Amino acid sequence: MPDNIDNLLTEGRRFAPSPEFVDQAVAGTELAEQAAADRLAFWAEQARRHVTWATEPTETLDWSNPPFAKWFADGRLNVAYNCLDRHVEAGNGDRVALHFEGEPGDTRTVTYAELTADVKRAANALLDLGVGPGDRVVIYLPQICEAVTAMLAVARIGAVHSVVFGGFSAESLRSRIDDARATLVITADGGWRKGQVSPLKPAVDAALAVDGESTVRHVLVVRRGENEIDWTEGRDIWWHDAVAAAAAEHVAEPFEAEHPLFILYTSGTTGKPKGILHTSGGYLTQVAYTHRNVFDLHPETDVFWCTADVGWITGHSYVVYGPLANGATQVLYEGTPDSPEPGRWWSLIEKYGVTLFYTAPTAIRGFMKAGREIPQAHDLTSLRLLGSVGEPINPEAWMWYREVIGGDVAPIVDTWWQTETGAIMISPLPGVTETKPGSAQTPLPGISVDVVDDHGDPVSNGEGGLLVVPEPWPSMLRGIWGDPDRYVETYWSRFGDRYFAGDGARRDADGDIWLLGRVDDVMNVSGHRLSTAEIESALVSHPIVAESAVVGASDETTGQAVVAFVILRNKKKKSLSPEEAVAQLRTHVAQQIGAIARPRTVFLVDELPKTRSGKIMRRLLRDVAEGREVGDTTTLADTSVMTVISEGMR
Ligand code: WT7
Repeated sequence: MPDNIDNLLTEGRRFAPSPEFVDQAVAGTELAEQAAADRLAFWAEQARRHVTWATEPTETLDWSNPPFAKWFADGRLNVAYNCLDRHVEAGNGDRVALHFEGEPGDTRTVTYAELTADVKRAANALLDLGVGPGDRVVIYLPQICEAVTAMLAVARIGAVHSVVFGGFSAESLRSRIDDARATLVITADGGWRKGQVSPLKPAVDAALAVDGESTVRHVLVVRRGENEIDWTEGRDIWWHDAVAAAAAEHVAEPFEAEHPLFILYTSGTTGKPKGILHTSGGYLTQVAYTHRNVFDLHPETDVFWCTADVGWITGHSYVVYGPLANGATQVLYEGTPDSPEPGRWWSLIEKYGVTLFYTAPTAIRGFMKAGREIPQAHDLTSLRLLGSVGEPINPEAWMWYREVIGGDVAPIVDTWWQTETGAIMISPLPGVTETKPGSAQTPLPGISVDVVDDHGDPVSNGEGGLLVVPEPWPSMLRGIWGDPDRYVETYWSRFGDRYFAGDGARRDADGDIWLLGRVDDVMNVSGHRLSTAEIESALVSHPIVAESAVVGASDETTGQAVVAFVILRNKKKKSLSPEEAVAQLRTHVAQQIGAIARPRTVFLVDELPKTRSGKIMRRLLRDVAEGREVGDTTTLADTSVMTVISEGMR
C-alpha cells in the first residue's frame, strides 16, 4: 500500500500534456466519445482497426453464459501472422523489430522480415516434433530473442504456450507442466544474470525427474549460456539443430477468435497457482489498442522499451503481442538493470534512442536510492513518454521519474491491470489526461470500472472501496485452466455479475481512481504477485516447521516484502541454532517456489494470533512486521498471544 491514503488525496500537483504532445498524439477525446456512444460498436471498430482477420467477425460480444465471454466469436485470425507476416507484406520487412542486447554486451538486430523467417522455421520445427493445435508447450527461457520466437511459433501453429519465469524453481516448473499436461518444454542451457551464467536446463531436468510419469516428450534447448549441461538422449534436442532441419516456408493457418493462445500461472489466495487462460482475437485487439493509444505509439519513429520479463503478463502483452502487432521497434535486454554497471539501463536508452519506456515502481525506487547522478550521466532526451505498472507508484517516485528520467516533460502513464485482465484497463491517455502523481485515474475508453462498498454499492467521490469491472472486456481471462468452478468462485461470486479484481481503490474529489493494493492474502513484491498461502505451505513442507504465517510488510524498495512467522517443531528445535533455522527456511522457500519468494525476514515465534474460529489474524502480524503498535486484539482467542510474540522476538 502506498503512503497514507489521506495524504495521497491531498496531492495537488497536476501535469497537463504539452501542446506539442497533444498535437501529435494518437489518442484524442474522440475515443472516449465513441466508446460512450456505443461500447460494443467501439470494440468492433478496434478489432477491425488493429487486427487483420482471415474472416472478419460479425459478432462482437456473446455474454449469454456469464461469466464465460466470447468476443468476435465468428472471426478467424492467426495471431502470429498479425505480429509478423502482415508487416512484411505491407513493405515494412526491413523495420527493426528487436534491438537485442545480451547482458555481456553481445547484440543482435532482428528485422520484421528476419523475425518472420525465424518464426516460420521454428513453427515447422514444432510441427516436426508432433506439436499440434491445442497442445501445451512450456517455455522456460531467459529474455532472449528465442523467447519471442518460441512464443510466436507456438501461437502460429495454434498450440498454447505456458511461459514460466526463469526465476521459478524446478518444483514450480513441474507443477505448471503437470497442471497443463504439456508435451514439450523449450528452455536454454542458461542465461546471463549479474555477470554470471544462471543455468536453466538443470531445473528442467530436475522437474522431469520428479516421481510419476511426465507428459513431456521432448525438451528443446537453446544454446545461450554455453554452460555444461546434462543431456537425455531421445528427449533433448538442440533448438539450433531442430530449426536448421526444419523447412523455411510456413503458411499461417487461421484459428477461431476464441482459440486458446496461452496459459499464464499466477498466485491466488490458496496455495495452488491459477493457470489464467487467454484466447486470441479479443486479447490481440485489446493489447494492440492499448499499446498504441496508451503509449502514443508512432511505429515508424518510436523505439519502445518495456523492461518486463516475458515470463510475466507484462512481457506477454507489452513485449510480445502488443508491440509486434503494432509493428513497433523495441529493445529487448537480457540482464539486470545494474549489470555490469549501475547505469546500464540508461546507457541502453541512450544507445538505442528509446522514446517510450515502460517499467515498474520497484525499479524506479531502486534507482532513486542509488542516486540521480547515475541517470544524469546519460543523455535521456530521446524519451518522450514514461509508463509505470505492477503496483501503486507513490507520488515521490512518480515525481522523481518525471523529473530525472523524463526531463520534466514526458507524460507518465500509470497503468493498472492484471494477469487476468490481459491488457491495460485504467490509465491516463497521454495526449488527453491531466495527470496526477500517484493515480491511475480513469478507465480507458471502452472499459468500465467501478469502486464499490462491501454490499456492492458504488462509493461516492472521496470514498474508498473495492475495485470491480462491471462489463466484460475483450482481453479478459476466459477461465482458469482445468478449473471453471475456481474461475467463478474467485472472480464472480463476490458481486455476482461484476468482476472482482481483489484490489482496494479510492475515488478522489474528481472521481479519479487511486489504487490501494490487494485486499486479499496476495502480496505484491517488486510488482510480482505472491500468495501468502503458497509460501506458508512451502514453509510447513520443511521438517523443522510446525506452523507458519506469512504477511506482506511494506518495503521501501520492493513495495512489499515477504515476512514469515514460524513455529518450529519442539523436537527439531534443539539441534539447530535460530540463525541456522532461519537460513535454512529462507533457502527452502527459494528452492520450493523461486528466489522472488524468499522471505526477507523470518521470525521464530512460539504462538500465532488466531481468532476463536482458528483463523490467523494477519493484520496483527503485519503490525509487528512493520514495527507498528499492535492494533485491536479483542477478537483473539487468547489475547495475551501478541505480547508473547512481541516479547519473544526481542
Ligand atoms: C496486481 C496484478 C499488470 C502487470 C503486472 C502485475 C497490482 C498492477 C498497478 C498499478 C496499482 C497495480 C494490483 C493488481 N497493480 N498495476 N498501476 N497501480 N497497482 O500483474 O501479477 O497479475 O498483478 O498488481 O494489485 O491486482 P499481476
